[in-house]
Amino acid sequence: MRQHVNPLSKNFNEFEKIPSMIEMFDDSKLNLHLDIGCASGEFLFDLALENSNWNYLGIEIRERLVNTAKLKAREKEIKNLYFVFGNVHNILSDFHNEFIVKNLKSISFNFPDPWFKKRHYKRRVIQPEFINMLSNFMKKGSFIYIKTDVKDLFAYMDCTISSDCNFEKIDKKDFNYSESFNPNKVQTNREKYVLVNQIEIFEDIYIKT
Ligand SMILES: C[S@@+](CC[C@H](N)C(=O)[O-])C[C@H]1O[C@@H](n2cnc3c(N)ncnc32)[C@H](O)[C@@H]1O
Repeated sequence: MRQHVNPLSKNFNEFEKIPSMIEMFDDSKLNLHLDIGCASGEFLFDLALENSNWNYLGIEIRERLVNTAKLKAREKEIKNLYFVFGNVHNILSDFHNEFIVKNLKSISFNFPDPWFKKRHYKRRVIQPEFINMLSNFMKKGSFIYIKTDVKDLFAYMDCTISSDCNFEKIDKKDFNYSESFNPNKVQTNREKYVLVNQIEIFEDIYIKT
């Protein structure tokens, strides 16, 4: 399977219609967390099974991974978990999908693709225009979590989010993880690999003010 997909490809201009909150989740009133670039969704399966008082949504640009994750969620009858295939920029910037962003309690960007070459920076998932859209539509008190093992990418993501005056960085020492989307600090696949190999992890949390 291809590891890297160019999100700017025209193939992603069209995307599936996202069902309503009631169609996606058994209890649509629960807090909603979105994981962007969820890959095969294993992280979200772990979270959804552990935290039945949250709803989890994953968006991923590799279609085969999403199809498999959707099938698995249906087979296991997990009702607080949903997956959407496509480029998150196109999906969430579409006015039909404003309701997703408005309903979110939190978003995670876990180990996004670094796209190291400067001419490929436009392919990075965190872009100023995208953060500006989130800043306009996310509700006050909602959170963005970023995590990566690439120091330069971390600096770029931090600078992009911090440049938006509606997002304020939180002091993690004072943060109550038990009330977050991931109270038991479940790890993503990339995170497990990074920890085994003793590579440093950089992370931050921002609140919409
Ligand atoms: C390095 S992987 C990390 C996967 C997972 N979050 C983890 O921590 O193990 C980054 C993922 O983001 C997905 N991705 C990259 N750009 C995306 C975009 N614009 N929209 C949706 N998914 C994207 C990639 O296909 C890939 O699965």
